Amino acid sequence: MYTDSKILESLKKVEQTRQERFNNKDNIKRMGADEKDAILKQYHPDYKEESFENLKIGVNKGEKVPHELADMLQAHSRVANLDLDLTKPDYDVDVLVIGGGGAGASAAIEANEAGAEVMVVTKLRMGDANSMMAEGGIQAADKPNDSPAIHYLDVMGGGHFANRPELVKKLVSEAPEAIAWLSNLGVEFDKDENGNMITTHGGGTSRKRMHACKDYSGAEIMRTLRDEVLNRGIKVVDFTAAIELIKDTEGKIAGAVLLNMETKDILIARAKCVVIATGGAGRMHYQGFPTSNHYGATADGLVLGYRAGAKLLYPETFRYHPNGAAFPEQILGALVTEKVRSLGAQLVNRDGVAYIHPLETRDVNASGIIRECSDRDEGVETGNGKAVWLDTPMIEMIGGEGTILKRIPAMYRMFAKYDIDIRKVPILVYPTLHYQNGGLEISTNGMTGIKNLFVAGEAVGGIHGRNRLMGNSLLDIIVFGRNAGKESAKAAKNTVLKDLTLSHVKDFENELAKANIKTDLVSPKLLPNYTKQKNI
Ligand code: FUM
Repeated sequence: MYTDSKILESLKKVEQTRQERFNNKDNIKRMGADEKDAILKQYHPDYKEESFENLKIGVNKGEKVPHELADMLQAHSRVANLDLDLTKPDYDVDVLVIGGGGAGASAAIEANEAGAEVMVVTKLRMGDANSMMAEGGIQAADKPNDSPAIHYLDVMGGGHFANRPELVKKLVSEAPEAIAWLSNLGVEFDKDENGNMITTHGGGTSRKRMHACKDYSGAEIMRTLRDEVLNRGIKVVDFTAAIELIKDTEGKIAGAVLLNMETKDILIARAKCVVIATGGAGRMHYQGFPTSNHYGATADGLVLGYRAGAKLLYPETFRYHPNGAAFPEQILGALVTEKVRSLGAQLVNRDGVAYIHPLETRDVNASGIIRECSDRDEGVETGNGKAVWLDTPMIEMIGGEGTILKRIPAMYRMFAKYDIDIRKVPILVYPTLHYQNGGLEISTNGMTGIKNLFVAGEAVGGIHGRNRLMGNSLLDIIVFGRNAGKESAKAAKNTVLKDLTLSHVKDFENELAKANIKTDLVSPKLLPNYTKQKNI
């Protein structure tokens, strides 16, 4: 409930201007390309040069990454001082999948389908991942007025044409099949009374192609994938993190060193192929931003891959979702799905002015909020910083009474807990760290430059260029997760492993010393450190 007098004063202005804004909602102009460029350069966190540094070692030496990521990429290995016997592995499989989210589950299912012996390790539990928390939906061009070619153009435009075209082509052309696959597995997508899929717009989409399961799309998809993994009897080792990759003496990937998060036992997994599906990095809190991400999102896959010699692509670009909850404090940074704007809620400043088109791409809308709250001084003071309004009651004006409970019940519930009825009053939002646009570079078969090291999901770089559009992440975890599963199973069939070695770790430690990097940090981080103790 809002009680602060300044918030209430601003709320009154939002209410006073609502009818007029509703009447004129179709007259809000979209920005032109130059205007977009200018606002991004001035306000988007990716352009804040002082928040980045150039890497001193590794394959991306000389390229910029956020300070927090540089610290992890240039930290000591957790196994540097351990004397490990690699000749007697605790596990021996064809395909080791690291990560229990949507990409990992999809990879495991397809590798199992192809006859490979698969094991999934996950540092928390199967399904504890950003995939589970995804809200808005999954894009696929499967309606008569749409096509993968139109979807392709939207993805490329959203990504500022920095996307790898061959990866985008795969993403969009396999999207309709991904929806069909999920439906067949049992995902309950929203449908109209005739059984047709309901689809909506997202920021930067030229067609309504967002398929959703209300506003808990990720939970529904992850529920189904997890059931499928378990029903197939695929081995899942929970609470076990990968802390280093292992190679063989020919330089191929050959498994991983594992850490039991409860007992702290170190285990060795020998594998002919490894799929990194470790997800994102929101819990790195780049530039001090709050995050919508899962507790385990600490960029582990990037660290493992980088130390093994795999290249990163665009590790300096992130998605700050415009709509992080900014009030009350208990839900600071939590995701307010873009679907709220797709359904008609406007972004409105302290004076009740709709200062931007609600469906500009997210990087532009995030920058717009930062501009209102800084130079323009049009933000609302929340007690936790400044924010703008997201005028949710407009959704019911546009879609009719009941739309909120029908289409975004999770959003209603999240705020109702704090006596904020989003059908009647708007909510306060500010950008939250939501997605890592960049990651490990792959070819269309999902493999990195290291033989038999595959990547899928948020740990991949290049699919989304420098800015991902809504709904293309749930899509990429399915398309590229399945792809990595099929391709790794195929590669495993033709692989004979030589002796296992961690010589690349020794080499990396030597590089650290040579570059005179003095650090007592170890990586991967595994879990965020909110206790201020060192090296947890
Ligand atoms: O706004 C959202 O629901 C987020 C979706 C996405 O990032 O794909």
